[in-house]
Amino acid sequence: MNRGVVAEWQRQLVESASRLLAENRSGGFTRPSSGQYPHQWNWDSAFIAIGLARIDAGRARDELLTLVRGQWSSGMIPHIVYHGGASSYFPSPDFWGTDELAAAPAVTTSGFTQPPILATAVRKLAESSGGAGQDPFARALFPALMSWHRWLHAARDPDGSGLVAIIHPWESGTDNSPRFVTALERLGAVTPPPYLRKDQHFVAPAERPVAGDYDLFMYLIGRYRDLAWDDALLYREAPFLVQDVLFNSVLYRAERDLLSLARELGEETGEIEGWLSAARAGFDRLWDEASGLYFDWDVRAAEPLVENTCASLSPLYAGVCTEGRAQRLVSEHLLNEEEYAPGAGSRYFLPTVSKNSLHFEPRRYWRGPIWLNINWLLIKGLREYGFTEEAEVMRNHTIELVRRSGFVEYYDPRDGSPCGAANFSWSAALVIDLLLEDEVQDV
Ligand code: DGY
Repeated sequence: MNRGVVAEWQRQLVESASRLLAENRSGGFTRPSSGQYPHQWNWDSAFIAIGLARIDAGRARDELLTLVRGQWSSGMIPHIVYHGGASSYFPSPDFWGTDELAAAPAVTTSGFTQPPILATAVRKLAESSGGAGQDPFARALFPALMSWHRWLHAARDPDGSGLVAIIHPWESGTDNSPRFVTALERLGAVTPPPYLRKDQHFVAPAERPVAGDYDLFMYLIGRYRDLAWDDALLYREAPFLVQDVLFNSVLYRAERDLLSLARELGEETGEIEGWLSAARAGFDRLWDEASGLYFDWDVRAAEPLVENTCASLSPLYAGVCTEGRAQRLVSEHLLNEEEYAPGAGSRYFLPTVSKNSLHFEPRRYWRGPIWLNINWLLIKGLREYGFTEEAEVMRNHTIELVRRSGFVEYYDPRDGSPCGAANFSWSAALVIDLLLEDEVQDV
């Protein structure tokens, strides 16, 4: 469907989103938010590039090339790249202890990764150049993408289960999501290395992770620093090892995009097809027939992490569920007022934690507020399964939220009021993408 002429208010919204992305620009990359997050974050940059692809493809390419400068020789693309050195942000570059490692790049980075949206962003850019076959940028980035995805499978799924595991909640991108509570409780009382939080300077403490969560985050970083970030040791000894549904959904979708890039570039496709087929079997294990939801798998405890959050719905975005499972996710959960649908205490899609969870907190980071990247993923997933009306409602809510409260980090689902950091880049970028898209079926 062609949406036709863009209305004046839409044009103005695209203009203010573009202005924000220009203000947050720092050399070759975009800061997620200039005060709270002044470095380059992995999945932020990929989401930002998806929006930039609609208005300035050259800048979108720079964004991704700058991210790849942080790639380790092992193939890992880390979650933070500190191009400008230390800042007001904690953890500071030296906290990670990565500088002296043989695999680390010239620029300082964090020691672990984040959900791999990158291949999806590269494919979007290639599409806007008439396909990867015509796009020197896609050809140039393809080896870096393959090497990252190979690392993900080799380092994080050495036993070939089909699903990769994360070693820290920050790798999920949804740091304090309640789905990790049980896995973290198993760690017992921890002693983190000495540290000083700085994240509550720009954002109210009530909207940030609680102190106990931060202790656990820092404790795990300290443990992994002591293991010199060695992949084999980390997989063997990480006390937190979780097959995260959201991470694997993003990965699956990215590998569908990687497959399409490989075909267009005339590259070998067997390895990628193998990853996709193994992942399909893996996702079957994450499905819980009784509740009609997908749950993370705690590798260390060998049990599911039973908590209903937006991650449970993310296989819609991957396109990895059967029609029957997709139908259950939508009718029993997404459209259920007690869980995610507007009504019963919320006005907008999509609270990131089910409203009837004991852990639901509508303003605290990943404990319930609406995040626009999750809305964006689900809009894509709903369309893929033919839920076009539901996707349209979620798209309208997403746009209404920014018209009401601006481009903030997250939104209170009860009234759409702003939470978290101000001037948040991916909120601007993804709204540009939604406003300028000309096709509903965009898969
Ligand atoms: C933070 O500092 O809160 C980030 O989410 C870490 O990636």
